[in-house]
Amino acid sequence: MATLGNPEDFLLFPCDVTDDSTIDALFQTIRSEWKGLDALVHCIAFADRDDLNRPFSQISRTGYKLAMEVSAYSLNVLARSAAPLMDERGGGSIIALTYNAVEKAVPGYNAMAAAKAALEVGIRYLAVELGLGKIRVNAISAGPVRTLSASAVKGLSALRRWTEEVSPLHENITPEDIGNTAVYLASDLSRMVTGNIIFVDSGTHVLAAQIGAMRQYESGSERGGA
Ligand SMILES: NC(=O)c1ccc[n+]([C@@H]2O[C@H](COP(=O)([O-])OP(=O)(O)OC[C@H]3O[C@@H](n4cnc5c(N)ncnc54)[C@H](O)[C@@H]3O)[C@@H](O)[C@H]2O)c1
Repeated sequence: MATLGNPEDFLLFPCDVTDDSTIDALFQTIRSEWKGLDALVHCIAFADRDDLNRPFSQISRTGYKLAMEVSAYSLNVLARSAAPLMDERGGGSIIALTYNAVEKAVPGYNAMAAAKAALEVGIRYLAVELGLGKIRVNAISAGPVRTLSASAVKGLSALRRWTEEVSPLHENITPEDIGNTAVYLASDLSRMVTGNIIFVDSGTHVLAAQIGAMRQYESGSERGGA
């Protein structure tokens, strides 16, 4: 694997995943600049703040569709655009970012939880479909990190406090923890790994849901455990 150069030398291109013409232009540019592609990292998610804050039963039809299109269907479009370029290299690695509001309900994640469920299904189907061409498809299921998108999710601070208090590793994850796993998934170290959801979450996915504890944190109580 090549080492990345100076950040000033990185190539940046616009891409709106709801607009096929920008996706086509992006992959044409990649073809002319690099001829092929080794890895694709999908770290895209969007839902209207209103649809995150409404009860699940009240998510609007348009809001549900928008969250699905931007956060889940985009993986299909990007994977099918990337696959021919990865074929040029004899294979590749596609990595997506997800959040475990899928196996268990996380209050406040609503429309995005539905989109992440669809994204995770996509990981398995694409892994089967693209495996013949040695293209591997995996997702990293990350613990809560403060970012612009995450600030739209109600209760993020409570989730972070809860992680620190009760997760097996008693510590919140950092963006570097996600990056390290992405490097592993992009490299030949993971050459036989595909179709997986890899948890980088301090181990919280092994715990039974403790929603009562999260609510206590939200209301400012210092005690954990529900
Ligand atoms: N922050 C967390 O706690 C957390 C936890 C688990 C998973 N994730 C996932 O990590 C990924 C990155 O999110 P983040 O938290 O770093 O927030 P972020 O705001 O930094 O990233 C979201 C990205 O989505 C892009 N995006 C939104 N609409 C788009 C569109 N139509 N076309 C192209 N790009 C579009 C934005 O430009 C932005 O770069 C997301 O998939 C998110 O669900 C985040």
